[in-house]
Amino acid sequence: MGNGVDNEVTNPSDNRSFEDVLSVNLQRRGIIKGGLTLATTAFFAGNMPSALAARGGYGSEGYDALINFSPVPVAAGNGAWPTISPEYQWQVLIPWGEPLEPNGPAYQYPPNAEDQARQIGIGHDGMHFFPIFDEKKRRCGWDHYPWNDDKSWHSNIDHHNWGPKNNWGNQRGLLCINHEFGSNGHVLGKNDPESLEDVRTSQHAHGVSVVEIKSRRGHWQQVKSHFARRIHVNTPVTFSGPVAGHDLLKTPAGNQPLGTVNNCSNGYTPWGTYLTCEENFNGYFGATNLRGSWLATEQQQRYGFADNGFGYGWHKFDRRFDLSDPAYKNEENRFGWIVEIDPMDATQTPVKRTALGRFKHEGIAMTVGRGGRVVGYMGDDQRFDYIYKFVSEDNWRKMRKAGKSPLDHGTLYVARFNDDGSGDWLPLTIDNPVLAEHFTDQAEILTYARLAADKLGATPMDRPEWTTVAPDGSVYCTLTNNSRRTVANAANPMTPNLDGHIIRWRDNNKHTGEHFNWEIFLVAKETHGTESSYSSPDGLFADPDGRLFIQTDGGQKDGLNNQLLVADTLTGELSRLLTGVTGDEVTGITMTPDRRTMFINLQHPGNGDPSVTNFPARPDGVTVPRDSTLVITRKDGGIIGS
Ligand code: FEO
Ligand code: CA
Ligand code: CA
Ligand code: CA
Repeated sequence: MGNGVDNEVTNPSDNRSFEDVLSVNLQRRGIIKGGLTLATTAFFAGNMPSALAARGGYGSEGYDALINFSPVPVAAGNGAWPTISPEYQWQVLIPWGEPLEPNGPAYQYPPNAEDQARQIGIGHDGMHFFPIFDEKKRRCGWDHYPWNDDKSWHSNIDHHNWGPKNNWGNQRGLLCINHEFGSNGHVLGKNDPESLEDVRTSQHAHGVSVVEIKSRRGHWQQVKSHFARRIHVNTPVTFSGPVAGHDLLKTPAGNQPLGTVNNCSNGYTPWGTYLTCEENFNGYFGATNLRGSWLATEQQQRYGFADNGFGYGWHKFDRRFDLSDPAYKNEENRFGWIVEIDPMDATQTPVKRTALGRFKHEGIAMTVGRGGRVVGYMGDDQRFDYIYKFVSEDNWRKMRKAGKSPLDHGTLYVARFNDDGSGDWLPLTIDNPVLAEHFTDQAEILTYARLAADKLGATPMDRPEWTTVAPDGSVYCTLTNNSRRTVANAANPMTPNLDGHIIRWRDNNKHTGEHFNWEIFLVAKETHGTESSYSSPDGLFADPDGRLFIQTDGGQKDGLNNQLLVADTLTGELSRLLTGVTGDEVTGITMTPDRRTMFINLQHPGNGDPSVTNFPARPDGVTVPRDSTLVITRKDGGIIGS
């Protein structure tokens, strides 16, 4: 549910026929035959033999395999309760409705609007663990995570003195977590809101939570914290970057910008802030004037706005979400952005960073590229939409020292995947004559980034979801599925693509150039009927040893629930670590710096139906299921995924 709406197609551009030009590339057909054959393609081949030799030689005695846990078998992968590998264990943390801090308003069903604004939201999705590394609760830098440091590519878990003596940051930290969506049926216990109070309850269940958590002898719990806060649909926000102050963000009503919604996946910056990504924001708007005086503009259509949205009904009681109310013209342009949140300052106003463009942002994977510039890779999750990247104009430290946000000044690009395995990043700038012909200024290009990308001939993809940057510099992206694809292109070769695939690329010029080389890494369909069966890959995380964690969101084959798998990026081996509960989606992934505690989310267990599962209550009662975070550890205290 909820994200079934991703199934619409709103890209009418000529780029659809551009697919015909590319046509099906038979050479690359061979490439999708399986993980191992891929390894022989041009760009990635160079690293393979030496990296495998460093592990003792693939297949030889003494070979140091990355994945050694016993996988959850297909036969055990479908229940009303999670199933995890026997070497691992899980614990529930912060279910929907739990008070933000101890002694806050207790969970009750259904919630009221006032309580919900001080409780954990619903629709747990992207999240990040920010370690607190000493009793002064100082901020941890980006390089405290071993996966952000080139030098720690092979398991340097003692990096920056993380270890038994200074272990705080592995046992205490702030969890920033997105609350993507909750249907009215699940949140309110009825399909249609009957009052503004109902709408407020729904709005307060969306957004972001910041909670402080701590491990006491291996058991994680929330603690009282001056960092704890809820950000929801009515929280004041501000705009920054090229679109800030522009007419496109002003309404005739002159109302102040408020809120963030449909917060899907996430990112985090080298300077220690959290990025939350607004995905299916269109679905919360509707039009009360259904007599035809409201007509969707070309821009609104391209972003999927419709009379009744996804059925939340907010527009019936809250004029801000009524597209046919002239006083709130342009309110919809205030959503679809990436929002920066400072987890260590509960008084900070969240900032919408407009230089990153407006589309259905799934997530953002950040890295530091040549010259200390920050680079963010982003997917726009809709059928036939695009992959983007942002590169800051200068070294991030230098920019911050000069009082400039690296996320406000830089270039947004959209990806074209050529059929010979090369790719181009096409700059979405007003200097480009093709764009200057159709757009008045940079602000308009960024606000309608999808339409600008259409003009440049970007490659329409099979629903780009998460991206992750592996420490060896390769970037992975999930293309979750696309049942409407009838014409293949080289990067999206399946017609239709019912089960999805994972693509990877490497940029030239250390992430800052305009060219890349790509290949298909895994094709989900090829796993069906095997013990590593999965479909609809979505969440991703690349660890410093060469593992790729893959989470799924969509109908699984072979009788499985949605799941968490671990792949070896060098050999293509794939092993199932966990399956969730019936009707859920497995998403959100973050770790402590020592990689001995992982946090993931089970979103919409049972799709909210207590006859399917009571999770996280024990299976024997009848309670409304609650979206929850799971804490995952190895029973022997080892590295997660090993
Ligand atoms: Fe919110 Fe594209 O998943
Ligand atoms: Ca989802
Ligand atoms: Ca997703
Ligand atoms: Ca998905």
